[in-house]
Amino acid sequence: MRLSARIRYEKSVFVDCRKDIFIVKGVNLSLLGLKVKDDALNICKEKDVVIFIELDKEVSLKGKITRFGDDDFVIIFNENPELIASTVGKYLTSRIYKSGICPFCSKKIENKERYCKRCGMFFDYTKPEVVRFIQEFKVGKIFYDLLVEHPEEIEEKLEDRKEFIGVSERIKEVFDLIRKYATNNYPVLIIGETGTGKELTARAIHERSKRADKPFVVVNCAAIPENLLESELFGYEKGAFTDAHRRKIGRIEFANGGTLFLDEIGDMPLSMQAKLLRFLEDYTFTRVGGNETLHANVRIIAATNVNLEEAVKKGKFREDLYYRLNVLTINIPPLRERKEDIMVLAKYFLNRYAKEIGKDIKGFTPEAEEALLNYQWPGNVRELINVIRKAVVLTENMYVSEKDLNLRREEVDTAYCLNGRSLNLKENIEKVERELLRRAFLKTGGNITKMAKLLGISRPKVYSLIEKHHIGEITD
Ligand SMILES: Nc1ncnc2c1ncn2[C@@H]1O[C@H](COP(=O)(O)OP(=O)(O)OP(=O)(O)O)[C@@H](O)[C@H]1O
Ligand SMILES: [Mg+2]
Repeated sequence: MRLSARIRYEKSVFVDCRKDIFIVKGVNLSLLGLKVKDDALNICKEKDVVIFIELDKEVSLKGKITRFGDDDFVIIFNENPELIASTVGKYLTSRIYKSGICPFCSKKIENKERYCKRCGMFFDYTKPEVVRFIQEFKVGKIFYDLLVEHPEEIEEKLEDRKEFIGVSERIKEVFDLIRKYATNNYPVLIIGETGTGKELTARAIHERSKRADKPFVVVNCAAIPENLLESELFGYEKGAFTDAHRRKIGRIEFANGGTLFLDEIGDMPLSMQAKLLRFLEDYTFTRVGGNETLHANVRIIAATNVNLEEAVKKGKFREDLYYRLNVLTINIPPLRERKEDIMVLAKYFLNRYAKEIGKDIKGFTPEAEEALLNYQWPGNVRELINVIRKAVVLTENMYVSEKDLNLRREEVDTAYCLNGRSLNLKENIEKVERELLRRAFLKTGGNITKMAKLLGISRPKVYSLIEKHHIGEITD
């Protein structure tokens, strides 16, 4: 278990191994066990022991000693989940809340929320069912599944509230449509180039609608493999296929009462388009491998950056689905066609990032403003945000210069995580490595196999990098 939160625990612990009592030094503590560094424990390897450990008060816990690596041992607790929750769980939980940030993705914890609204990992280990879940799964697993199995736990996973900014006539038309479309339940189709704000628009409609207190669930049709899309959307019953060890609720069911955002709908495979169309006839469906007809009250918002009419002509998109989705449409113009928004957005993000990293930056030089206005922004607002964020980090001036913007150079996705003050290659590589690891973690919900695939490295390497960069470790 690498991905349940753990804490550095470098205190002395008593280990009663029936024959002898050892005093050993701890390394770290997690829900599943305590890692220690002491060869003395070799004698009682594989034995049942009792440890006396100082948490909020001293507690004794039963466990078994296993060797871990060359000179590390882990005492795996074999206590019942109730006891673990009320001792180690309580201790870890209080330390996480004290640290104020998610140990998995570093998001700030607000209002004592019980799980991270960004990465889905749990903060509250005081519940025996959470301990049981972690004990059973052994490896970190996205807690989304757990949440869906416990409807009382369901809350919307909202990203930080985002501002929607713009002053141009074209974007005001978009705002106007958002307000109008929020009042009904018809499907909405949002069309726009990459980075223009399609998802932001979909969320804005949801947040202004009567469904606002229900989930907004995103399905990226391009990112989910064709053979998984159906079960992802509709869920499956236990035994539906080899790996279906238990029932899984699909995203449509999860979104019940709320909004289902079908992103990159143009990339949905034709076979799935037929199934979606059938669902949209009367909003009923069955889980894969099941025969119960279920009904979901969801509003569909779809987005695309490909021309669906063209796709229909080429036979890549079903015409009947196109007409069903294309009831209400929003076209978000590219940034270069609404130049009035460029400086408003640029100044907004400049202020925001300068404040965030505590730099006193007053604005842009006239040349920089001109460069921003003349640039074509192929990546639209997302690209603008990246450019500004990078300039804020790199600039040494009170006014960001044209050079700081570095507009001609191709935008590198990981550029913002470079260490702005240092050109030391090793330091920067470490930083990028950690950042990519975090991103892979967020994208896969901590699934090691998927992380290995995304990062193009082996699973053991993923484990060792998680260890190296202390992902999941509580710091205070
Ligand atoms: N008008 C705006 N005001 C403030 N932020 C914006 C605006 N438009 C876009 N953004 C921000 O730009 C980023 C990209 O927006 P979003 O993800 O909604 O784009 P998208 O059209 O869905 O892109 P893609 O097609 O690549 O998925 C987000 O961080 C979003 O918050
Ligand atoms: Mg998007």
